Amino acid sequence: MEKTFLMVKPDGVQRNLIGEITGRFERKGFKLAGAKLMSISEELAQEHYGEHKEKPFFGELVEFITSGPVFAMVWEGEDVIAAARQMMGATKPSDAAPGTIRGDFGMIVGKNVIHGSDSKESAEREISLFFNEGELVDYQKDSLAWVY
Ligand code: PPS
Repeated sequence: MEKTFLMVKPDGVQRNLIGEITGRFERKGFKLAGAKLMSISEELAQEHYGEHKEKPFFGELVEFITSGPVFAMVWEGEDVIAAARQMMGATKPSDAAPGTIRGDFGMIVGKNVIHGSDSKESAEREISLFFNEGELVDYQKDSLAWVY
C-alpha cells in the first residue's frame, strides 16, 4: 500500500489544529502508520527542503519550520500521496479551495499549516528522513462486525 509523509507545521501546532487535521485523514479512511511531535533541527530542515535551496524564500522556510514543534506523520492507503495533496489544497492559502485544509485554515503562503510529499520519490525520501523503521507500525484494521 502506498505511503506518504505529512507534517502539521509549527503554525498548525500553535493553532491547535493537530486533531482537526489528523481527523480529516482518519475520516477519509486512510491508515496512520506512524506519528510524533518533534522539533526540527537546522540540519534536518536544510536537508528536507534541499531542493528549494536556491529559492529566495529558503531562509524563511528553514527559519519557520524550526521555529516550534511539528507533528510528523506517515499515512497509508490507495493513491494516498495524490489524495493528501488534494485534501491539503493549493500552496498559497488564498488559492486553496474551501473544504481543503489550507483553504479552511491557511493564512499566508509561508504559514500554510501542512506539508505533504508531492511524489513517490519524495514520500520515500521524507519518510526515511523523519522516521526510523521501528517507528512505523504495520497492522491490520479489524473487521467492523463488532460495531453496532
Ligand atoms: S516551487 O517554487 O513551486 O517549487 O515552490 P512550492 O512547491 O510552491 O513551495 C515549496 C515550499 O516552500 C513554501 N513556500 C514559501 N515559504 C515561504 N515564503 C514563500 N514565499 C513561499 N513560497 C512557497 C511552500 O509552502 C512549500 O513548503 P511545503 O512545506 O512543501 O508546503
